[in-house]
Amino acid sequence: MNERPKVLVVYYTQTGQLKRIIDHVLAPLENKADITFEQLVPVTPFPFPWGKQQFYDTMPETVQATPRDIEPLKVDVNAHFDLVILAYQPWFLSPSQPTAAFLQSNAAKQLLKGKQVVTLLGSRNMWLNAQEKVKSYLHQAGASLAGNIVLVDKSPNLVSLITVLRWAFKGKKEATRFLPPAGVQEKEILTASRFAGPIANALAKQQWEELHPQLLSLESVELLPNLVILESKGIKAFRFWAKFISAKGGPGAASRQGRVTMYRGLLLVGIFVLSPISLVTSLIQLNLKKKQLQQEVDYYKGIALRSNA
Ligand SMILES: Cc1cc2nc3c(=O)[nH]c(=O)nc-3n(C[C@H](O)[C@H](O)[C@H](O)COP(=O)(O)O)c2cc1C
Repeated sequence: MNERPKVLVVYYTQTGQLKRIIDHVLAPLENKADITFEQLVPVTPFPFPWGKQQFYDTMPETVQATPRDIEPLKVDVNAHFDLVILAYQPWFLSPSQPTAAFLQSNAAKQLLKGKQVVTLLGSRNMWLNAQEKVKSYLHQAGASLAGNIVLVDKSPNLVSLITVLRWAFKGKKEATRFLPPAGVQEKEILTASRFAGPIANALAKQQWEELHPQLLSLESVELLPNLVILESKGIKAFRFWAKFISAKGGPGAASRQGRVTMYRGLLLVGIFVLSPISLVTSLIQLNLKKKQLQQEVDYYKGIALRSNA
């Protein structure tokens, strides 16, 4: 090929963590591809650090996929790209609002039609339902998902929950005496450049079938079976609360704050009581339904979309 392959990176980030991940993944490609960055910008920005009530008030529209608008894209939606990297983060087990706003836009539908896409996530550790939603948006836009890379915070589930909330509410990412730093471990970010090799090969050959298996062999997606169970319980509860809260008014409406406060309280009880219980039930399920759960894990590690999703 005479010309360098063209890569578009579409992303949103609040703290800059995801942009650092992108930069590490793409560093080895710098001289091998023309890379264009498109940062998604909400018309009204989401705050960081978050007010607690505002944080929980953002759940219903995130789960129901009725996001806040984003500014028009800068990129020419008819331009040629060999690969689109969609870098995003889950919010409330769903794609973050700016990501959903992008994927629902006509611009995205034009831009993504017929394109190869690699998804790149920077998350705490609960991203399965968000990725299912993204797979289905990509399918509707006529794009092909060619690979998935997921960076997670590898601390124990409750530890990462406490540190991510402290980060979100106080802006404090650093370690304290008792807690590790919030977010994806530095080592995971620094070693993410290992994924560039398979991406460069696929771009050079314009062959995409081997990309995801090669990424997987480099541990691009690691998944604990108990998180499959925890997430499927969590998303059902979120859908219920999203409906219950939004029945009282739109984002920030005074009329729904009573219900948002109820949800805040119950969520914390749910997490600190239910998540250890779910760990135990999942260990039981793990043994009783080992094969079925393993099939679920394999499915979520893959890039296929279930026909009923
Ligand atoms: C409102 C909100 C909800 C979040 N919900 C989840 C979640 O459901 N699952 C998860 O793994 N991480 C969740 N996170 C963590 C983010 O996915 C992400 O890792 C973190 O916010 C840093 O991302 P950024 O700085 O690149 O935007 C949430 C963060 C925020 C701000």
